[in-house]
Amino acid sequence: MINVGYFITFEGVEGCGKTTQIKLLSKSFSTLGLGTVLTREPGGCPIADKIRAILLDADNRALSPLAELMLYAAARAQHVTEVISPALEAGKIVLCDRFCDATIAYQSFGRGIDRGVIDNLNIQACQGITPDLTILVDCDPQLGLERARRRIEASSGPREERFELEALAFHKRVRAGYLQLAADEPDRFLIIDGTDSIENIFATISEQVVTRIPEALRAVC
Ligand SMILES: Nc1ncnc2c1ncn2[C@@H]1O[C@H](COP(=O)(O)OP(=O)(O)OP(=O)(O)O)[C@@H](O)[C@H]1O
Ligand SMILES: [Mg+2]
Repeated sequence: MINVGYFITFEGVEGCGKTTQIKLLSKSFSTLGLGTVLTREPGGCPIADKIRAILLDADNRALSPLAELMLYAAARAQHVTEVISPALEAGKIVLCDRFCDATIAYQSFGRGIDRGVIDNLNIQACQGITPDLTILVDCDPQLGLERARRRIEASSGPREERFELEALAFHKRVRAGYLQLAADEPDRFLIIDGTDSIENIFATISEQVVTRIPEALRAVC
């Protein structure tokens, strides 16, 4: 399928600021009158949200790397079918908090699963959908983990901390993986310095993103 809308994904290590920035961008797009769908992975629809609960539950220490990978793929297949693909076909701008690059960064660079296996699963799960633009919010995982832990302690919702409990070395491999992916596809990726203030990061992202959205989608505002 060819994307009719525009697909933007946000990536980066735990606590780098993805959710903060994607929400600001979604709000700004809505204010501009752009048809926007804000979603996230793992999850984004009821069935995939059930899979998310398994993936992020810190009690699931015994989850094997291969089972983890396949759960991500299953959640993505459902999410693409139910949410992302229809929204793009309807000409919407889809903003997704993590997508296929996260699986490569975490399960291949982080866990060491063969890249070919992951690429094949991503091809199946994504069903021809690829991000038009990927914003990589880059920061030292130590800083990201400190932020994420503070957020988890302050929140009353589910703790969703299975990955936050991984060793720092794991998160360093994930960051290196993301930077490698960005170097491999410089036209798709925009690397943002996640150590800056929330306001400055948002200013950079909005300035960069607006120029990349196709004229036809911008024309509605
Ligand atoms: N640039 C920033 N400077 C300081 N604090 C920030 C910045 N961006 C986000 N934060 C704070 O850090 C915490 C983590 O941010 P956020 O939830 O947006 O990160 P995330 O990348 O979505 O994390 P996760 O990978 O765990 O979903 C939040 O409490 C947020 O308010
Ligand atoms: Mg988040």
